[in-house]
Amino acid sequence: MIPIKDLIVKDIQRIVKELTGQSIIPILEHPKDERHGDYSSNIALAIFSSSKFRPKADQSLADKVQSSKFRTPMELAEEIATKFKIQNSKFKILEKVEAVKPGFVNFYLSEKYLLENIKTVLEEKEKFGSKRQDPNKKVVIEYSSPNIAKPFTVGHLRSTIIGDAIANLLEANGWKVYRDNHLGDWGTQFGKQIYAIKTWGNEDEITKSENPVKMLMDLYVRFHQEAEKDPALEEEGRRWFKKLEDGDKETRRLWNKCIEWSLKEFRKIYDRLGISFTENNGAGYGESFFEDKMGGIINELEKKGLLKESEGAKLVFYPKNKYPPLMIIKKDGATLYATRDLATDKFRLNKYGKDVVIINEVGIEQSLYFKQIFEIEKMLGWVKDGQRIHKRHGHYRFKDEKMSTRKGNVIWLEEVLEEAIGRANKLSSGKAENTAKDVAIGAIKWNDLKRTSEQDIVFDWDEILNMEGNAGPYLQYTFARTQSVIHKASINVMPNSFQHLERTGILKPASPRGEQVQDDKMMEPEEVSLLRALQRFPEIVWEAGENFSPNLLCNYLFDLAQKFNLFYQKHKILESENRDFRLALTQAVGQVIKNGLYLLGIKAPERM
Ligand code: ARG
Repeated sequence: MIPIKDLIVKDIQRIVKELTGQSIIPILEHPKDERHGDYSSNIALAIFSSSKFRPKADQSLADKVQSSKFRTPMELAEEIATKFKIQNSKFKILEKVEAVKPGFVNFYLSEKYLLENIKTVLEEKEKFGSKRQDPNKKVVIEYSSPNIAKPFTVGHLRSTIIGDAIANLLEANGWKVYRDNHLGDWGTQFGKQIYAIKTWGNEDEITKSENPVKMLMDLYVRFHQEAEKDPALEEEGRRWFKKLEDGDKETRRLWNKCIEWSLKEFRKIYDRLGISFTENNGAGYGESFFEDKMGGIINELEKKGLLKESEGAKLVFYPKNKYPPLMIIKKDGATLYATRDLATDKFRLNKYGKDVVIINEVGIEQSLYFKQIFEIEKMLGWVKDGQRIHKRHGHYRFKDEKMSTRKGNVIWLEEVLEEAIGRANKLSSGKAENTAKDVAIGAIKWNDLKRTSEQDIVFDWDEILNMEGNAGPYLQYTFARTQSVIHKASINVMPNSFQHLERTGILKPASPRGEQVQDDKMMEPEEVSLLRALQRFPEIVWEAGENFSPNLLCNYLFDLAQKFNLFYQKHKILESENRDFRLALTQAVGQVIKNGLYLLGIKAPERM
């Protein structure tokens, strides 16, 4: 089904072309005030403000009249509305098209169409909203990407949650999605780490520990403390990294151990969050995978004359010093994070196709770095504009003192999740343990997804677990409410039973909204409002995906939930003469909330 919005856009475009000769892609907005219709276009105003359309000063009067048949935006808007009315009369999708001052065109969907849509929701079920429209688009989305032997930070948590939601949305829009995890498992720090394990560590203890990463981190910190007293240790670190690079057996074994120990913890987190990756058998291609692929990149950079030597190191300088130079090889010959990123992208372009879109979900603090990387990739002729995307997220700040007293953003995620589950348990009145888990995880995810990702988050349990405001539990609670109504009715709401309603005329599907029809069965404003909101879901999924912005979907779902709760407060469902219609409406709202939450990676328990 082609979304109605696209149809209207196409029609406006065609009509405007006929009337003015101009090809402009109109922007359709949702009026803030529902009384102004479902969609609104400012195309007439836009055309009048574009210089092309305005008659030139030196034109004769006759010419002026000729070139602008319409003297005001309002005249043009009226003409557009008239043309629409004529052609629309046969489809009945639109109830009304009107021009309003100073030159907007507003579109009102017909109730018949809105009712059709409910049927579609009930028929398509979990598929409703997934349009599969962009079958030729491919994307590698890389998210999470924690570092081996370092804690999984809240930054990694944000990346994991946002990246997964974007991947889900793009999949719903029909993109081919490759989910990757760029583990930080390579670099000179492993020389120090291995030296520290060998010198002060105990492998058995680490293996047995519940929190091996913490032990590794303590060892790493110790290395730096000791190195301050004895600078010769730095050389030791370099020596051990060299051994690692040269494939020394014992060094490789310990390095592999570090990965194993860390993944044990990371996997626990992924399991809890319900996160998975598709690449490299689900492990993702970590930095170490590119160890033998950096040589080729360095050659390519050399050949294209992009590497310049400076104090023994090799860097890329940017034309007109657009960005500070980026180091590719250190003076001791070692490669860097950047070298591996270039090798990674080259590998992706080869593997998935040169037109693949590549998204890195990484903290905002790496913004300059990614600009530098993208620019090099453009200089190398690898990618086109818009093909490389850094989806940035802001930082967490902690309101909770317990957490803010910790240094930096080193909080142990397990603790946060445990705490969330504990608190959710109280919320969901001690129901099944799984429900508390779903509520806790859902709350943390929603808290992250509900705002534009660049924004910082002030971590506040009261906000996160709010049952009445813009929070995960509120959405889940609203869903559970729809399900409890359906269960109480103990009927299976079928799209067909709904058709039957229309035939028997209990509903007045074609009754013009706004007009005073002498019929007490006319729909309530809260019902119409819900119908109109439901209609928008596929469009929102589409927009949230194409803009890589899950928060658009959150805004929508929160609004829908509020509308439903208002309807629920004001009207009886089970004891109403419109019971069947209201049940169908309730079922459709539940379905859409569930589908939306699913795309955000949030579960929708039936009961709370
Ligand atoms: N491991 C890095 C960190 O924790 C993030 C990696 C981001 N991805 C990338 N391709 N550079 O900061």
